[in-house]
Amino acid sequence: MKFSIQWYERLPSTNTFLKELAGLNKQLPSGTVVAAREQTQGRGRREREWLSSTGENLTFSILLRGKYALRQLPSASMAAAVAVAELLDGEGIKPNLKWPNDVLVNGKKICGILADGVSGGVIIGIGLNVNMRSADHIDQPATSVLIETGARRDVTQLLEKMLQHLSVRLDDWAEGGFSKVRKNWESKIPNLGKTITVRDGDIFRKGTLEGFGPDGELLLRAADGIVSAVWAGDVSV
Ligand code: BTN
Repeated sequence: MKFSIQWYERLPSTNTFLKELAGLNKQLPSGTVVAAREQTQGRGRREREWLSSTGENLTFSILLRGKYALRQLPSASMAAAVAVAELLDGEGIKPNLKWPNDVLVNGKKICGILADGVSGGVIIGIGLNVNMRSADHIDQPATSVLIETGARRDVTQLLEKMLQHLSVRLDDWAEGGFSKVRKNWESKIPNLGKTITVRDGDIFRKGTLEGFGPDGELLLRAADGIVSAVWAGDVSV
């Protein structure tokens, strides 16, 4: 996949902005990347906000054109999470993945991914904590590349490197969906076969993490042995 990057000094949300661009211009090519030095209204999954200080972190979104069914979309961000984990491996960090698409280091979140469906494609937004010094302002355990390695990174260069990994993994995904990323995804999941709780709004479901279905949906084995597919929720151990 070829990318063309547009950098902006400040945007409310790269996902929202790229969605608008794609809506206005139906010819906007697949692989268009919108990146912002500062994001003022970053969006997270499940209506949460995504905080990021000016110039310190990577906040960007990618447009993927194609006719994808709704059920295929979650695994696009799983493929992106694999690419982020590979990038971090190369930076000397050992990350884990948490379904559906969080990247963690020792239980602390370093990257969040948000997929938005658009007509004729999908937008994948990625927020990676790069040069953030402290996570005190974030309402959950969080970390950054700087905190983990003690060294700052050039955010522009890190995006270039990240896109090399994304190019491979998103091509895999476009070709074969989750089946093409399953092996890499599962190799970075620490709690396969372990007891987990999945929270979806007010509903908590406890069970064993059995594995993942054909589209990356989580398979949860309840105490009565019945395995059910979970498409949305937050996992805790
Ligand atoms: C999450 O973990 O809840 C997902 C966070 C996704 C944040 C990224 S930052 C770039 C892109 N633009 C947004 O508004 N959100 C995503």
